[in-house]
Amino acid sequence: QAAGKPLPHESAALHVSGEATYTDDITELQGTLHCALGMSQKAHARVLDMNLDAVRAAPGVVAVLTAADIPGENNCGPVLHDDPLLADGLVQYLGQPLFAVVADSHDAARRAARLAQVQYEELPAILTPQEAKAQNAALLPPMRMRRGDADAALQRAPHRITGTFECNGQEQFYLEGQISYAVPKEADGIHVWCSTQHPSEMQMLVAHALGWHSHQVLVECRRMGGGFGGKESQSALPACIAALCATRLRRPVKLRLDRDDDFMITGKRHGFYYEYDLGYDDEGRIVGVRLDMTLRCGFSADLSEAVATRAVCHFDNAYFVPDIDVAALCGKTHTQSNTAFRGFGGPQGALMMEVLMDMIARRLGRDPLDVRRANFYGIGERNTTPYGQMVVDNVLHPLVAELEASSAYRERREAVRAFNRASPVLRKGLALTPVKFGISFNVPAFNQAGALVHVYRDGSVLVNHGGTEMGQGLNTKVAQMVAAEFGLGLGLGQVRATATDTSKIANTSATAASTGSDLNGKAGQDAARRIRRRLAKFAAERWGGTPDAVLFADGMVSVNGVTKPFAEVVDAAYWSQVQLWSEGFYATPGIRWDKATMTGKPFYYYAYGAAVSEVVVDTLTGEWKLLRADLLHDVGQSINPAIDVGQVEGGFVQGMGWLTTEELCWNDQGRLTTHAPSTYKIPAVSDCPADFRVKLFRNRNVKDTVHRSKAVGEPPLLLGFSVYNAIRDAVASVGGYRREPQLNAPATPEAILAAVMQLRMQE
Ligand code: MTE
Ligand code: MOS
Repeated sequence: QAAGKPLPHESAALHVSGEATYTDDITELQGTLHCALGMSQKAHARVLDMNLDAVRAAPGVVAVLTAADIPGENNCGPVLHDDPLLADGLVQYLGQPLFAVVADSHDAARRAARLAQVQYEELPAILTPQEAKAQNAALLPPMRMRRGDADAALQRAPHRITGTFECNGQEQFYLEGQISYAVPKEADGIHVWCSTQHPSEMQMLVAHALGWHSHQVLVECRRMGGGFGGKESQSALPACIAALCATRLRRPVKLRLDRDDDFMITGKRHGFYYEYDLGYDDEGRIVGVRLDMTLRCGFSADLSEAVATRAVCHFDNAYFVPDIDVAALCGKTHTQSNTAFRGFGGPQGALMMEVLMDMIARRLGRDPLDVRRANFYGIGERNTTPYGQMVVDNVLHPLVAELEASSAYRERREAVRAFNRASPVLRKGLALTPVKFGISFNVPAFNQAGALVHVYRDGSVLVNHGGTEMGQGLNTKVAQMVAAEFGLGLGLGQVRATATDTSKIANTSATAASTGSDLNGKAGQDAARRIRRRLAKFAAERWGGTPDAVLFADGMVSVNGVTKPFAEVVDAAYWSQVQLWSEGFYATPGIRWDKATMTGKPFYYYAYGAAVSEVVVDTLTGEWKLLRADLLHDVGQSINPAIDVGQVEGGFVQGMGWLTTEELCWNDQGRLTTHAPSTYKIPAVSDCPADFRVKLFRNRNVKDTVHRSKAVGEPPLLLGFSVYNAIRDAVASVGGYRREPQLNAPATPEAILAAVMQLRMQE
């Protein structure tokens, strides 16, 4: 049985030996040209003149393309058509592509791209979400979710907290940058190898840009060196530009963004600005909340509507909020157009709640865990979310109790307090934060997937599905689920996953919202079951017995007392004209969403988890260290515990990076000044805690998911909140836990030091 085993990632050996091929490793065809983009040097301006003579004359340059050279639609916006491939007269962020240079080498193209002489007429630029809010600059109609009467609840609440908070965005920092390699096929076709989470959308957008049919465009992706949401919509720019250049020049063209260009051009996680008003009782139970969120969307809508919706739907996190009024404004800023990033707005919504939980606890002088527990969704009561979905699979209570005990939370809380009483400079902090994360796309149609499974005459199995592999192990999991249907293992290499290819599976959804294995696993299973049924029917006819009694296990097929190797049965079936390949399909049932009222059932189920983090902060420098982290996470019945634990660890560390070391800074001209690893700090191996205890919670999905598993890709990112809250706890000790640290996210050492100094001044 292949399902449920901690098997290595199907490409693990290739990853570590450096032999795994990414798009840039594909052997270049003769005549391949390289493309680079010329970028705007202003945040918001009219382009009065663009002199590209020097670019054209530069060594190695073959062609220069501008907006006027696009035969189809000059747009790569995934939802609204507000995202030009190449700016046409108006630039809306510093870094926006103005033209494409094609040269005989990557280096020549990049050098030439800098030689443009552009004259701008500058326009006023909006550079922060606060400015966007003040000017009511919105890309989409404001969003609002209401239940009960928040104002009345706030009026009658015994205690109230009001204030503002901010969290920064986050660069996806996939190790493999954005890249596409476009190769013309005959006169009227194109094959695009693209590092993308969404091949079908790339196919469609390339077709639109060229003014072609979708059937003329083939998009293929074997694997990405990370996507993290950044290649859901924003792989479109390289895909479309490479395709435009390739069709125009009738030569293969590769567009690989250099890391700095990638930072300057592509969107990131949305930073948020919050204004909150929360009422609570003496137990710390929330009575009512009013929350106003403004997103830094950047210059175009991209996926911001869905991100804002998820933020609104995840503010509640693990807690029942009786009366609530949450608004979200998709603020337009003249910066990169922000996009998906692991959690997709969910982390930004829930972070605010978790910060508020600690504030309530500090004000009441109670342990934050007790306050959290008092607010947890109930079982059979207090279990309806603000958007009207019932929480029926709640495992928060047992999960948090297990973690509380296994992490020795109470004892360590005492120890941390005792340490701080005796330590004037070094201060420790501890925090336990839970997560409840909804799984599904709230656009019902996106919750569908297809698969294509081939069984060859030697009994080997080739698995294709519409999902994409970005390191998360999707191909391994789908192969496991297909192998399980045939009673095969993965060890012998009998089952193999192939590249995602739009000519194999049509109209696929993005591999996103953590739904990859839920959707494609079910589709793969469906395809495998169809073949298995045909094989069982054949075997029963050949050797006697009934099809239902045919057993597929351990690489063998048994029926009516006869046991034969799978390969032998397959070959015999071929000679009897049995179809040995099949498509499979899956659609998640029951997803509903009413955009106008912001109610419905947007999630098939929830994934849960909790983490305890302990940090030590140096209050003289603001430097800190994560000493220990205990994670307990619910993946239902795991399809592959090794891969799932990797996802939990990676998500946690990435969440920690977002809230601590990763800082995006734009200067007053709108230039992103943190545009490379030299100025933007993602967590490294050495940032992992020396004591790192990660466990999967024993559970089984109550919903009929594949092998009763749960999605794992995004939810663990929210476990990183515990690190941020632990830092706040440590800083609060400076003010005797009586005052709230003034600390936004990320809690960089500078920000920590400023918060410490402010508290010291008040003492
Ligand atoms: N893990 C790795 N190694 N690399 C990635 O790019 N992306 C994350 C998550 N885990 C990512 C990852 C994001 S944003 C999502 S939505 C899911 O994986 C997508 O894959 P899944 O649906 O198959 O879990
Ligand atoms: Mo993940 S942000 O949904 O690609």
